[in-house]
Order: sequence, then C-alpha cells, then structure tokens
Amino acid sequence: MISWIFIIKFWVLSSSYSIPEIYSGVKIRMFARTSFKHAVVEGFQPLIHHRRYATAASLNQTEVAKFAAMADSWWDMEGPFKPLHAMNPARLTFIRSTLCRHFGKDPFSARPFEGLKFVDVGCGGGILSEPLARMGASVTGIDVVEKNITIARLHADLDPVASSIEYRCTTAENLVEEQIKFDAVIALEVIEHVSAPAEFCKSLSALTVSNGATVISTVNRSMRAYASTIVAAEYILQWLPKGTHQWSSFITPEELVLTLQRASISVEEMAGFDFDPLTGQWSITDDIGVQYIAFGIRNG
Ligand SMILES: *[C@@H]1O[C@H](CO)[C@@H](O)[C@H](O)[C@H]1NC(C)=O
Ligand SMILES: *[C@@H]1O[C@H](CO)[C@@H](O)[C@H](O)[C@H]1NC(C)=O
Ligand SMILES: *[C@@H]1O[C@H](CO)[C@@H](O)[C@H](O)[C@H]1NC(C)=O
Repeated sequence: MISWIFIIKFWVLSSSYSIPEIYSGVKIRMFARTSFKHAVVEGFQPLIHHRRYATAASLNQTEVAKFAAMADSWWDMEGPFKPLHAMNPARLTFIRSTLCRHFGKDPFSARPFEGLKFVDVGCGGGILSEPLARMGASVTGIDVVEKNITIARLHADLDPVASSIEYRCTTAENLVEEQIKFDAVIALEVIEHVSAPAEFCKSLSALTVSNGATVISTVNRSMRAYASTIVAAEYILQWLPKGTHQWSSFITPEELVLTLQRASISVEEMAGFDFDPLTGQWSITDDIGVQYIAFGIRNG
C-alpha cells in the first residue's frame, strides 16, 4: 500500500506539480480512518418494498445498475461511500455560504433556508438532503435508483426534521414535465454519470425558478483527477468499485461553465475540494483542477 502511494506521488510529481497539489490530488486512506460506524442499513432490509425504476433519455442504464448494487452500504461511514461522507462538510460549507448570500439569509442562523424549496438531484441515501432539511429548507430528494430512495426515506424517518423530506424515485426530466420549480437545484457528483450532460443541465435549469440557484459538483478531466479518482480511489485504495468513474465523461470547469451558460445559468462562483491527509478532512480551496463545485444563477 505505502509503496503504491509513493508511486502515485512520484508519478504526479513527475508531471511537474507542486508539493501541496500532490496532496490535494491523492487521497490517502491510511490517514483518513474514522472509528465511527453507522449500522442502520441492516435493520432496513425487511422494510424494502418494490417499485419500478424510472427511465429517461439522459439516463445510462449501465450506470444505474452499477449504483443499485452499491446502494446498500450507503449509510455505512466505513463503507464504499466513506469518501462522500468525508466530503460532506466541505460541500455544505460552500452551499451554505453561496445560497445564504444569494437569498439574503443569515448563514449563522440555525435554519437559514427556512421558506426555500430545494431539490437534491441524485440524492443517493440522503447524505445532503438531510442536513439541508435541518437548515430549514423544504427538500425534495430524487434519485433514479429505487434502493437509494428506499434507504434515504427509511433513514430520514429516524429524525422528525428529516422526515419532512419528500423522496421520489424519479428523474430531473420527469419533474420538468410535472412543471415543478425550486428556489435551488442541487446536483452533486451526478453530471459525470449521465449520458447527455447538456440535456441534463437544461433540465436543471427548467426546474429552477427565475433568479433561482443551481449548484453542481463534479470532477475535472485532468491527469490529477485520473490519478486520484480512478487509479487511487478505485484501483489502489478500493474506496469505490472499479469502473465507478469513466475518465472520458469527466467535465472540465470550462466546459461546465459553457454548458450551463447555454442552459441560461450563469456561474457566479466555483471552488475546489482539497483533502488533508493529516486530518482526514476535506476543505474548500481555490484549486478547481480536480474535484470542484459551481454555484450559478438562473437568468430570466
Ligand atoms: C445512488 O447513490 C449513489 C451514491 O451516492 C449515487 O452516487 C448515485 O448517483 C445514485 N444513483 C443514481 C444513478 O443517481
Ligand atoms: C453507459 O455507461 C457505460 C459504462 O460507464 C459505458 O460503457 C456506455 O458507453 C455508456 N452508454 C451511453 C449510452 O453513454
Ligand atoms: C482541467 O483539466 C483540463 C484538462 O487536463 C486542464 O486543461 C485544465 O487546466 C483543468 N482546469 C483547471 C481549472 O485546472
């Protein structure tokens, strides 16, 4: 394991990146251990009921099958979604600060999003929907994987505030057809898994009220992203199943800004995520070269 980490380091080094960048690109599991474990999923099994998967044009069925297999271990902090659990505070920091500024809310109040309607597209097990609901937002969480939705709903029901979340197994396109609109549309780590990113952005835009907000996070198509998300996270550290990411479907920040512009969303702010191997925590950084998040406003 250690020798592999050094090999990646030297590989990244030899492509002439500075020392701090090496650590932002390569996530090192040995420093990231948390002793805390969630055992909720096991207890849910008898309650899982069956519904049909939603289908839509921009949906890649191969991707859906892949994630359905992973959904069970969602709320296991030591499970395959450990990297998402670890990233969540940094993602929430960005969302809280940009959305509070945009909607003129006090970021230090307990429920700053009171009175706002949010949709969490690709909500998975509800890792983002739950804290947004606790911050006062009226949240709809959607995911195309029924298992994800089932786990999310069961987990939210454990908490009276989170139980107000409306979870639905559907797609952004279907919500557009229903003509539902939200003050903020949030799609984290989803766009790299859809087969038609431009269409997907248009759907997100159609779901957003005029002058509403859109937040998207994804991975840049850079060598550093290849080293960290595919070689390190999938193959060496095995944080994620092999094949989770297709490097060719990653989107550069430049492309995302253009794609959103064409969907009438102007990107106002972007940030990158930086992993600190000493604390095992992620933080917000100016470096958008690997994992990044964008906040935009729906024009007109
Ligand atoms: C199901 O949950 C996983 C875990 O976050 C998520 O990455 C995936 O996007 C979800 N499935 C789909 C196809 O949205
Ligand atoms: C769907 O995803 C799989 C694996 O990620 C890929 O091989 C396939 O080409 C994709 N299909 C479409 C229609 O994009
Ligand atoms: C994203 O990756 C592309 C392709 O490697 C690179 O040209 C670009 O500079 C990167 N963007 C940022 C902001 O680092």
